[in-house]
Amino acid sequence: ADEFDYDVLVIGAGPGGYVAAIRAAQLGLKTACAESRETLGGTCLNVGCIPSKAMLHASEYFDAAANGAMAKMGIKVTPELDLDTMHGQRKDAVKQLTGGIEFLFKKNKVTWLKGRASFEDAHKVTVGGETVTAKNIVIATGSSVTPLPGVEIDQKVVVDSTGALELPKVPRHMVVIGGGVIGLELGSVWRRLGAEVTCVEFLDQILPGFDGDVRKEANKIFKKQGITFKLGTKVTGVAVKGDKATLTLEPAKGGDAETIEADCVLVSIGRKPNTDGLGLDKIGLEPNQRGQIEIDHDFRTKVDGVWAIGDVVPGPMLAHKAEDEGIAVAENIAGQTGIVNHDVIPSVVYTWPEIAGVGLTEEAAKERGEVKVGKFPMLANSRAKTNHEPDGFVKIIADAKSDRVLGVWIIASVAGTMIAQAAQAMEFGSTSEDIAYTCHAHPTHSEAIKEAAMAVTGKPIHI
Ligand code: FAD
Ligand code: NAI
Repeated sequence: ADEFDYDVLVIGAGPGGYVAAIRAAQLGLKTACAESRETLGGTCLNVGCIPSKAMLHASEYFDAAANGAMAKMGIKVTPELDLDTMHGQRKDAVKQLTGGIEFLFKKNKVTWLKGRASFEDAHKVTVGGETVTAKNIVIATGSSVTPLPGVEIDQKVVVDSTGALELPKVPRHMVVIGGGVIGLELGSVWRRLGAEVTCVEFLDQILPGFDGDVRKEANKIFKKQGITFKLGTKVTGVAVKGDKATLTLEPAKGGDAETIEADCVLVSIGRKPNTDGLGLDKIGLEPNQRGQIEIDHDFRTKVDGVWAIGDVVPGPMLAHKAEDEGIAVAENIAGQTGIVNHDVIPSVVYTWPEIAGVGLTEEAAKERGEVKVGKFPMLANSRAKTNHEPDGFVKIIADAKSDRVLGVWIIASVAGTMIAQAAQAMEFGSTSEDIAYTCHAHPTHSEAIKEAAMAVTGKPIHI
């Protein structure tokens, strides 16, 4: 039993790695976790989910005060921006939550090995100048920003998401390259705080991977909020001079180039798995064409004793997906049966309103067979209407024969909270009728889910 220093060594302390380490320790395994950052929590807690939500939440209040939404409810205020305090509460949230993981490591007796880990062999790793051995090694090294060829990120004028979270002043004109989740969330933050925002997207619509109706509606809503979109457009160059950038744009299909000026450029064209410097060659493991580490259903790589989870493996790059894989891999290592249902992973964009989905898009569902679709607008939901939140809808896609729910898509102020119900229903193999006959509290936004389910068979009450 003492053949190895540890039963489990996890590389990376993001939502995948720290959760795997804690669960492994809970299951009685001697566990260590290597992390090179100063603080635990990975991308998500340090420079991702948490700080972005801190800025989104605060800027939402500022916007509500500035755009007249509060005045409409009888609260007259002229907001004044104190960006330092706004950044301060962001840093505070990060500090508290990353500190919380350190506490959980201590509580569960997980050893934090500080430094960059690199494989020597399948059971041996060097980290912080020391060599440690483990019976099982879990790769949870996460991902980092995909660079745009020829465009240098200086974190001043040209920034990635990390730089965009920390801008010391509100840009006059921010150009967001990539109309995906990061571009829309962080573009929204700075638009709300007063920047002019232009979003350049290569495809003909924003938010690839989301349901077609949702993409169209979201685009309309963001335009109404003042974001300018250049769809079907590619950036062919960014020239920085002093504190200004000049971008050269071209239609994606070819055509005349144009230039636009900006004092801030956000590169958000996706993220790539972190495998550099990990010594994968020493254990005979090679990333696939997309740079990901391939795994089987149990999160085993093809090398005995080496497992992988989170952003570094195929699938959506989401914190909750990484966390669930972290639990499952630890359970599998302990000889239990750890499973993640990758067909039911919710996805949320934390803009205003929020945009959420789980399961298949209507387009994907139709490719598999006949479907029924029920849709209900938030405008007809009493709570949303009362709260002055008319934008959005709930859309439920069900199998035409079995009525089983295949996908749920929501645009609503609290879509991120509402989608949990849809995920649970799908996890339980629910039909649209099951949802329609479940009693939902009134008045809540969630009633729109019940009404959309009723609409699947054509009988909603409130429209
Ligand atoms: P990571 O969180 O990337 O953690 C990997 C860790 O491993 C890092 O801390 C890294 O330092 C460490 N590491 C890497 N290599 C080594 C090595 N060789 N040795 C030691 N340590 C190493 N997802 C959501 O679900 N919801 C959101 O709201 C959300 N918002 C986001 C906002 C932004 C701006 C960004 C960038 C991402 C966001 N994400 C969000 C995505 C989410 O952050 C990732 O999906 C999640 O962090 C992946 O977890 P992970 O454990 O796989 O990897
Ligand atoms: P993304 O994959 O969501 O979007 C990138 C966008 O850039 C796509 O629309 C793509 O078509 C476009 N694009 C690619 N190359 C381009 C080019 N050269 N010019 C113009 N457009 C181009 O990636 P993003 O926004 O960088 O986020 C990375 C990941 O981080 C996401 O996939 C998501 O998993 C995760 N994330 C999740 C959040 C959440 O769950 N709320 C929030 C932020 C990030």
